[in-house]
Amino acid sequence: MQNMASDDALKVRDLRFSWDTQTADILNIKNLDIPMGRSLFIHGPSGSGKSTLLNLLSGVLSVQHGSIQLLGKEFSSLRAAKRDKLRADHIGYIFQQFNLLPYLSVLDNVTLPTKISTQRRQGKARHARALTEEAEHWLAQLQVPRSVFSQPVSRLSVGQQQRVAAARALIGSPEIIIADEPTSALDQQNIDNFMTVLTQQCRSIGSSLLFVSHDMQLAGFFDATYDLHPSTPGEQE
Ligand SMILES: Nc1ncnc2c1ncn2[C@@H]1O[C@H](COP(=O)(O)OP(=O)(O)O)[C@@H](O)[C@H]1O
Ligand SMILES: [Mg+2]
Repeated sequence: MQNMASDDALKVRDLRFSWDTQTADILNIKNLDIPMGRSLFIHGPSGSGKSTLLNLLSGVLSVQHGSIQLLGKEFSSLRAAKRDKLRADHIGYIFQQFNLLPYLSVLDNVTLPTKISTQRRQGKARHARALTEEAEHWLAQLQVPRSVFSQPVSRLSVGQQQRVAAARALIGSPEIIIADEPTSALDQQNIDNFMTVLTQQCRSIGSSLLFVSHDMQLAGFFDATYDLHPSTPGEQE
């Protein structure tokens, strides 16, 4: 894929990572580009380094070798605090275990990113909606019933909690949505519906979607697929 730096949400070059200097690299990625507004499915079996890669791409972990550019900025050489700020401003993250705050209401969970990032708070200005309205908008798009908006999130079903987690990632329209196996706790019918809604909503705001899973059946929802194997260096298709 040939792209100008500014056209890529994320650009990875010669990325290698090992948890322990005594052992072989668990990640070895020559080239991986995620163009703005496109979706990429990263497939790999359990233990192949999917979560580790997402932690590197979102700046939670420091890069040991190679480089990562986020929205055209050299990201990997920044200090942890700067990476934290860029992550809060530009990345909506959906975790495998949702990471919602159980005692907070559904609405308060969804608005959390806007409390941490001015950019995410101002993202809503593009839609000229108040913050609560913005949260309600995303919950409605994700098909969460209005009757639960004020309830503690712990009272919701697993399927509903995952939709709340997706609404929290989408609020403020960040440029990049990252999802770490968000469907592993859902049943088949919920998976298909969740995937359709998530990919549609990312498209509607022009966000890039980076999604990892061991489940190859999900690949059809994405513009491109990248296969991650523990010890063979990958090359993007
Ligand atoms: N914090 C950590 N410390 C040491 N090793 C880790 C840590 N996190 C993950 N690993 C190891 O890295 C490898 C890849 O893990 P992970 O990125 O979680 O894979 P996946 O998400 O594809 O299941 C595994 O062998 C795992 O044991
Ligand atoms: Mg994982």
